[in-house]
Amino acid sequence: MLLFINACVRADSRTKRLADCLLTALGEPVAELRLADVTLPPVDEAFLQKRDQLLAAQDYADPMFDLARQFAAADTIVLAAPFWDLSFPAALKAYLEQINVVGVTFRYTPEGVPEGLCRAKKLYYVTTVGGDDFPEAFGFGYVEALAKRFYGIPEVELIKATGLDIWGAPVEEILCACEEEIQTNHHKKEKRKWK
Ligand SMILES: Cc1cc2nc3c(=O)[nH]c(=O)nc-3n(C[C@H](O)[C@H](O)[C@H](O)COP(=O)(O)O)c2cc1C
Repeated sequence: MLLFINACVRADSRTKRLADCLLTALGEPVAELRLADVTLPPVDEAFLQKRDQLLAAQDYADPMFDLARQFAAADTIVLAAPFWDLSFPAALKAYLEQINVVGVTFRYTPEGVPEGLCRAKKLYYVTTVGGDDFPEAFGFGYVEALAKRFYGIPEVELIKATGLDIWGAPVEEILCACEEEIQTNHHKKEKRKWK
């Protein structure tokens, strides 16, 4: 199962448009999690206490861990998030706090080193950016570090279109070029058909 984590907000989101292109090219059955439709519990002290108790009892079946179990079980992850304030929407950070669960998405070795427990071999990070200044470290780089260092997902690919809000930018041209690149690089079914 391919898990599509949709952190896009606007109805005519350009990020979602590129993600849809990628999902079509990958041609796998998709389970979509639209963060705008999900109400996540606040990570307050009561939440942390309950989580600690469940983890101490190794009770991973609790609904509190549904999102973490869904993430850990996915074969492929596609994460779509617009570039906001040098990073990504806060809803995505709130989601990541829910799925960072010791014993479900990662565990610690006796030496205290995180070791991934996720099935996915690849995570795609799709984003669009208003300007041309796209420092990767704060948004994409953070998710890449979590994927590789915590979840054990070895391959992380960034798909991006930048400069969309610059005055006079050829928005449609930029998006079409990115879509073409996605289709060329990721059309797995077609590639397999001719092998
Ligand atoms: C709340 C908010 C914060 C943004 N912050 C930045 C930013 O820091 N740098 C930038 O270049 N563009 C920024 N933008 C512009 C978006 O990156 C750009 O419009 C992007 O294409 C939006 O994606 P969407 O079409 O999927 O909604 C911001 C837009 C919003 C709404």
